[in-house]
Amino acid sequence: MAHGRVLFETRAASPSPNNAYTCTTCHATTQHPADLRLLPGAPLAGAVLRPSYWGGTTLDLLDAVNVCRHDFMDAQMPWQAADADGQALYAYLASLPADLPEAVTFHVATDAWDLPGGDAAQGKLDYAHACQTCHGAAHTGKGRLTARAPILPEQTLKEHASYAQAELRVVFVQKVRHGVFYGYGGTMPPFAREVLSDDRLAGLLTWLGVPQ
Ligand code: HEC
Ligand code: HEC
Repeated sequence: MAHGRVLFETRAASPSPNNAYTCTTCHATTQHPADLRLLPGAPLAGAVLRPSYWGGTTLDLLDAVNVCRHDFMDAQMPWQAADADGQALYAYLASLPADLPEAVTFHVATDAWDLPGGDAAQGKLDYAHACQTCHGAAHTGKGRLTARAPILPEQTLKEHASYAQAELRVVFVQKVRHGVFYGYGGTMPPFAREVLSDDRLAGLLTWLGVPQ
């Protein structure tokens, strides 16, 4: 269990030198964590009891963990059921309170479209709670977790300078909704509408100053 906790809280869950994340970058261990972060992954308290994972796409806990290790943490080899690391992680997850034993609702949105302007004051808070850990402060990137995460919004606007203005905002919406999926690649996790609604994302983009 102690080793499982180390795997959960440090970068040791992936041997890749490209990995900047720990499990705690995206998951809380209790249903109501003390901090206010808006995390893309579900709280893992009670995860060992759930009937299915990843919005019902797998029934197997180890598979669910290996998706995260592969898609976000650049781990090339999945953990097998007999591996000591996988077993240690299981022991740690089983030691958490059983807060959320039910399957967690989660969809990677297949669609993504432009959003109107929104509440910038709420958007400022949501940026701090959902994006800042990885991207650092808006406009400067100060404190970002990895230089792979662009400085928002300037670096992304610059990289897509050839796009029509009306399409630029959709680049932001799509990345947030799809993360690494639907041909986007990279290591950013998707934010489901269950975690960050369209209204809140609209406010976040307004506060960031992504043009409309
Ligand atoms: C970059 C973000 C990210 C990282 C890092 C990450 N995960 Fe995930 N994880 C997600 C997302 C997004 C989902 C899908 C939403 C959900 O159901 O939690 C998910 C799903 C899961 C699930 C299924 C939960 C459920 O009930 O559906 C488990 C279990 C899990 N992750 C464990 C881990 C473990 C253990 C680690 C570290 C080895 C890890 N994750 C690292 C983002 C991440
Ligand atoms: C767990 C870390 C992480 C979190 C949290 C995160 N990002 Fe990212 N983001 C990245 C990384 C890394 C990249 C570089 C591309 C990649 O690897 O997917 C990226 C790329 C982007 C891009 C560039 C897309 C493109 O096509 O050029 C945008 C826009 C973006 N993120 C917006 C956001 C917003 C808005 C939030 C908060 C709602 C957010 N990100 C949260 C890690 C993260």
